[in-house]
Amino acid sequence: MLKKKPKIIAFCCHYCAFTAADLAGTMRLQYPANVNIVRLPCTGKVNANMLLQAFVDEADGVMVAGCEPGSCHFLEGNVRAVKRVSFAREKLSEAGINPERLEMFHIPASEGPLFAKSAKEFTEKISQLEKKGDGEADEPDSDETGVETGETDSREIGAEKGEPD
Ligand code: FES
Repeated sequence: MLKKKPKIIAFCCHYCAFTAADLAGTMRLQYPANVNIVRLPCTGKVNANMLLQAFVDEADGVMVAGCEPGSCHFLEGNVRAVKRVSFAREKLSEAGINPERLEMFHIPASEGPLFAKSAKEFTEKISQLEKKGDGEADEPDSDETGVETGETDSREIGAEKGEPD
């Protein structure tokens, strides 16, 4: 039986990555149809719970794509996003999910080809992880983390404490 393509959620900043994705479409550049874009006014709107919830909701991989460093329309939104992605990656690792499944990208609005390339490469990486499994990620101790891992269908992960501003 043919394995389905991994489900990818891409949280994209309206001013850059979303525009780049739109441009990729206008340029008729192909990128995987399994990449589901969520448009945000700025990647500074993402928080760790939102990112982790995407995995609870069956995402196989999550992209956060914002403006280049120094180019955020809200000054430091993308800097905050980097910190939050990093924090959420730690939580994924604690939950026994490979943190490579979550990645931050910086994609200028004029870079349709870069968006298409990033989406393809990330999908390929997640496809490889789906084949290999998340073996490299540390196994959590549910007593220490308070997180039940169990089967991937019933992931329960959270980021109640310690999330960066
Ligand atoms: Fe694009 Fe903040 S406006 S990341």
